[in-house]
Amino acid sequence: MKSLRVLVIDDEKLIRWSFEKQLESKGYEVISAESAEEGLELFKRKGADLIFLDNHMSGMFGIELIPLLRAVDESVGIVFMTAFGTIDMAVEAMKGGASEYVSKPFNFDEINVIIDGFKKKLSLDNELQVFRRQQKEEFTFQNIIHASPKITEIITISKKLAQTDATSILILGESGTGKDVFARSIHNESKRKDKPFVTIVCSSLPDALLESELYGHEKGAFTGAVAMKKGLFEIAEGGTVFLDEIGEINQEVQVKLLNVLENRMVRRVGGSRDIQIDVRIIAATNRNLKEAVEKKTFRKDLYYRLKVFQFSLPPLKERPEDVPVLLEYFLMFFNQQFSKKIQGIDEEAKELLVNYNWPGNVRELRNVAERAVILESGEVLKKDCLPMEIRQEELVSEPEWGAGLSEYSVLVDLNKGPISLDDMEKEVLQKALLMTNRNQTKASKLLGISRDTLRYKKKKYKI
Ligand SMILES: Nc1ncnc2c1ncn2[C@@H]1O[C@H](COP(=O)(O)OP(=O)(O)OP(=O)(O)O)[C@@H](O)[C@H]1O
Ligand SMILES: [Mg+2]
Repeated sequence: MKSLRVLVIDDEKLIRWSFEKQLESKGYEVISAESAEEGLELFKRKGADLIFLDNHMSGMFGIELIPLLRAVDESVGIVFMTAFGTIDMAVEAMKGGASEYVSKPFNFDEINVIIDGFKKKLSLDNELQVFRRQQKEEFTFQNIIHASPKITEIITISKKLAQTDATSILILGESGTGKDVFARSIHNESKRKDKPFVTIVCSSLPDALLESELYGHEKGAFTGAVAMKKGLFEIAEGGTVFLDEIGEINQEVQVKLLNVLENRMVRRVGGSRDIQIDVRIIAATNRNLKEAVEKKTFRKDLYYRLKVFQFSLPPLKERPEDVPVLLEYFLMFFNQQFSKKIQGIDEEAKELLVNYNWPGNVRELRNVAERAVILESGEVLKKDCLPMEIRQEELVSEPEWGAGLSEYSVLVDLNKGPISLDDMEKEVLQKALLMTNRNQTKASKLLGISRDTLRYKKKKYKI
């Protein structure tokens, strides 16, 4: 079995050394870093199960690092250590995403208790994590922002479906149109809401593990099956199974799924009894399933099983009246998240946004709003905070503008897929440096980070 990897981030050499000595003797792997920045790099590169994080370090503080670590791996254990241990600071850290705290000075008995607790949690609830993670965002129909009659109508139907138990539902729609949001809202407003909502992303099921993932296995069913493991259908008992990207599954998996849907029974690999399951199935895809059935790449019988009820979410370009209300909502949302006070959008920018064709649908709009809120330094959102592809239309109609692209122009192209946080950060740093004529003191103030951190990041991104 893989040993636990512990990352220690502390600027005191003695602390790092003690962790290494004490924990390595227990058979754990210890890696360490002497600053928050270095710790983050190491964590990205090597990963860790549990992190002991000091707060007072030169450069970035430990508490600032917590969300960045969480962004890399949501489930990592973070133990916040502080020498000047006020409870307030520890509470702040826990609110910010730390799993536990320990005040310095501590002895290794305390540390071992924490590690044992963490290990127990890991092994006990390995399977539970699947849905705990996915349930974090609470979706209800009320949170579905819209102005279009089409969406109003779909919400009305979905509410009825939520109340009607046991019918399978198929949700169609392009990527980013809100299939996830609807599936979760239906679950959260049904009588199953206190039971698990388990997502199975069909395209990511590794064939070899598929059966045991879905149905579970008995102890000793195959080499490596050291303990009984419940399958996802069993874990979802009483709740909802969301079969996402159902259009991607191969023929073999289709047969197996059909079997579960028809009989509402699963048998664990290596098991001898059938287990009755009570789950509602919601499936979603951005593929044209009907066409797939005609081409015989998707089984007709499975298709009909799934689409007892189906609805299709229209792409955003077919409901332009939703654009302004979604923008307003996301502006408010990100204002809060980044402590900004952007009041609205100027006419020029609004026109571009409403006329844009939104190939990535609501997800793209959300990303555009997020970056615009980050980049905009004034109180009204203007077009220079919008990405290239949205301003492109203007470039076409006003060619002379192309030559003199604003020097603050946005470099990341959302059409090329999701942007990484690193790209985003680099871009924001570049903009801050441009705006302050590369004055590091002003730029770091503007960004709300220390000059050390700015220097470090400049080096990191070679800017
Ligand atoms: N009407 C809406 N109101 C508020 N947020 C929305 C709405 N529709 C979608 N979103 C948000 O847009 C993003 C994309 O939505 P979602 O994940 O549901 O899309 P999807 O159809 O499942 O996409 P994919 O096919 O890529 O899985 C999410 O962040 C979601 O919260
Ligand atoms: Mg989805």
